Amino acid sequence: MKLLIVIAIVIHACFADPTIYDVGVGIADITGPAADINTMGYASPSPLTSGIHTRLYSRAFVIDDGNNRVVFVSADVCMIDQAVKTEVVKRLEAKYNGTYSAKNVVLSGTHTHSGPGGYLQYVLLIITSKGWVQQSFDALVDGIFLSIDRAHKDTQPANIYYAKDTLIDANINRSPSSYLNNPAPERAKYTYNTDKDMVQLKFVSTDGQPLGVINWYAVHLTSMNKTNQYISSDNKGYAGLLFEGAVNGAEIMPGKGPFVAAFASSNLGDVSPNTMGARCIDTGLPCDFVSSTCNNRSQLCIAFGPGKDMVDSTRIIGEKQFQKAWSMYEKDNSELEPLEGPVQFAHQYVDMPNCSVEIQDAVNGPTTVKLCTPALGYAFAAGCVDGAGAFDFTQGTTSGNDFWNLVSTALVEPSEEVQKCHAPKPVLLSTGELSWPYAWHPNIVETQLLRIGQLMIAAVPGEFTTMAGRRLREALNSEAINNGGPSNIKTVIAGLSNVYTHYVTTFEEYQMQRYEAGSVLYGPHTLSAHLNQYKKLTRSIFKDEDLESGPTPPFLLDSQISLVPGVVFDRPAFGHEFGDCIVQPYPFVRPNETVTATFVAGHPRNNLMTEMTFMTVEAKQEDGSWKVIRTDAHFDTFFFWERTSGVGQSEAHLRWIVPADTPEGEYRISHFGHYKNIDATIVSYNGTTQSFKVGAV
Ligand SMILES: *[C@@H]1O[C@H](CO)[C@@H](O)[C@H](O)[C@H]1NC(C)=O
Ligand SMILES: *[C@@H]1O[C@H](CO)[C@@H](O)[C@H](O)[C@H]1NC(C)=O
Ligand SMILES: *[C@@H]1O[C@H](CO)[C@@H](O)[C@H](O)[C@H]1NC(C)=O
Ligand SMILES: *[C@@H]1O[C@H](CO)[C@@H](O)[C@H](O)[C@H]1NC(C)=O
Ligand SMILES: *[C@@H]1O[C@H](CO)[C@@H](O)[C@H](O)[C@H]1NC(C)=O
Ligand SMILES: *[C@@H]1O[C@H](CO)[C@@H](O)[C@H](O)[C@H]1NC(C)=O
Repeated sequence: MKLLIVIAIVIHACFADPTIYDVGVGIADITGPAADINTMGYASPSPLTSGIHTRLYSRAFVIDDGNNRVVFVSADVCMIDQAVKTEVVKRLEAKYNGTYSAKNVVLSGTHTHSGPGGYLQYVLLIITSKGWVQQSFDALVDGIFLSIDRAHKDTQPANIYYAKDTLIDANINRSPSSYLNNPAPERAKYTYNTDKDMVQLKFVSTDGQPLGVINWYAVHLTSMNKTNQYISSDNKGYAGLLFEGAVNGAEIMPGKGPFVAAFASSNLGDVSPNTMGARCIDTGLPCDFVSSTCNNRSQLCIAFGPGKDMVDSTRIIGEKQFQKAWSMYEKDNSELEPLEGPVQFAHQYVDMPNCSVEIQDAVNGPTTVKLCTPALGYAFAAGCVDGAGAFDFTQGTTSGNDFWNLVSTALVEPSEEVQKCHAPKPVLLSTGELSWPYAWHPNIVETQLLRIGQLMIAAVPGEFTTMAGRRLREALNSEAINNGGPSNIKTVIAGLSNVYTHYVTTFEEYQMQRYEAGSVLYGPHTLSAHLNQYKKLTRSIFKDEDLESGPTPPFLLDSQISLVPGVVFDRPAFGHEFGDCIVQPYPFVRPNETVTATFVAGHPRNNLMTEMTFMTVEAKQEDGSWKVIRTDAHFDTFFFWERTSGVGQSEAHLRWIVPADTPEGEYRISHFGHYKNIDATIVSYNGTTQSFKVGAV
């Protein structure tokens, strides 16, 4: 590898070619339990998963300059949790000791709100999922590890090209009144109240093969709203599937091709994909600008669009991101900016409540203040226009959530010190003062920065708002330049990385106490502390100085409590076998129509069908054989699972929306699953419909 670099430098000197890195890409399935598990993101005990729209994937990129190696993973998950990061690194260390550690591996969540929860180690984050869900955690950790392992085995010499463009109409600010509280001169520097920049890295092997892309664009993955029961990778996941399909070819099923396209999260804190904006669902009028309420109620103020329903909105926002990304990708490499320079990384654990920042106090002048212990404000419980609050706190201890009933006894009144520290935020839940049955929120968080040539990737532990992210990028670029970094240095923010600490807003936004500000964990100066910390990481990279590791975060797997019941047993409906097709598809369909079929099913949690599928659509070939053209991971297929009235009985409803360009011919649909016997043995089954014709009118 050293030799490669020497060659790269020599070539560089003669032909101004970009640096040659060793690059590997990998993708793996991380789809968790597709039934009975609360989805993570809307802080609401409903819905529970009941099937799959699109499968969830982890996409990994290994980048090495011959001296240093970094890994960037974008996973279709709401956020990465400390236990997930710790466990993935533990497994990497066990297999490749010395190559990977917490310091050079970044795990970033795309922020889909439609994946199964229960995989996070801190109490507050698993209340709505009734505690810990081992299957969710295992699917996530196994798949992330596998994607990195695949990337590790795939490394080859490659160039990396950077591109930046703007995508205007795929996001809006959902807290504009908060944004407006930022200083006018600062706002005047920007045209929009959200970031419209799309940043993309394109990886091309030195023999000209495209290997993959990482794309960053700030938008929430809340196109699928809080009524959705399907597992879905939402708009960014769909953009990834479109991109991979375009390069790998339609013959290759999702998640199986060599080319990997990650659409990763950024500073999306106050950024909604619901571009028609919020309105009152009862009157159709605009919501109150400052409070996002209608007649004083948050639940009536909902943001919609741009599509006719949530799947259509997901499609539109996904396609917009894909199309812009594709136009950046299609450019000749000579028109793109190659990354040039070393791979480096900096990482430190920080005890957030113990951080101090210097502020300008109106009375006392420069004053040093400490951050606060974690707490959530009232605005957190109110939710936002992408999903109004239904956090069952508002219903107190009488709610029907067992886990909440269990832990609510631990609640304490916030101390005066905590209330003062978080002011003006009214404290609803002083989670930092709770320790039963174990920690409710992190004190110790990971801060991490990667450098690849002139690009820095700031892996942040939560959701930075638009302006918070702009301040971070600016601060790091100047800090790099002031410490000998290249003049063309740039920073991209990788959100929801490593551990979740909710939101980070500016101090001015904090004063408004909307949902994002009510969810800032460590008080009004949280952003200032992050700016100081990430500048410190930047200095350590450009001065090539080692940092202390900082305090080790807790690993709480042994403390977890799980109250989600397992599958007891499955039983077919009377007179049937598992896999029987009880509602056959209509024998003839036209393009754009929907084919449906219903099967006698077992419980999806008996086997998650990881890297496999609960359904296929097959097309009959000329020689009479059948070829799989769709799986449950495709955007135009839906696998819905439903309990029926009989004890232990359930059905799978499969749907395929026949694309307009489907060739005429004979097709059939199959269902695959597992059932659990009363003696707990688990048995696989499958079933297939009669064939049906797709034809012209
Ligand atoms: C990795 O190697 C170091 C030093 O050789 C050793 O101390 C450590 O126990 C090893 N860790 C694992 C997980 O094998
Ligand atoms: C909303 O609540 C505020 C404060 O509680 C009250 O003053 C106001 O009259 C209410 N507005 C409506 C429309 O009910
Ligand atoms: C979610 O989207 C569906 C359309 O797909 C719509 O009927 C429903 O009102 C939306 N609900 C919320 C809470 O946004
Ligand atoms: C908190 O900060 C003080 C001084 O900055 C330091 O001495 C102490 O060790 C820190 N505590 C933790 C738990 O990091
Ligand atoms: C299918 O739908 C597309 C888009 O709505 C439309 O353009 C096309 O004409 C339709 N095709 C058929 C065969 O109905
Ligand atoms: C479907 O089930 C049959 C009967 O149990 C089995 O022989 C066959 O291998 C299964 N097919 C698949 C693709 O799993």
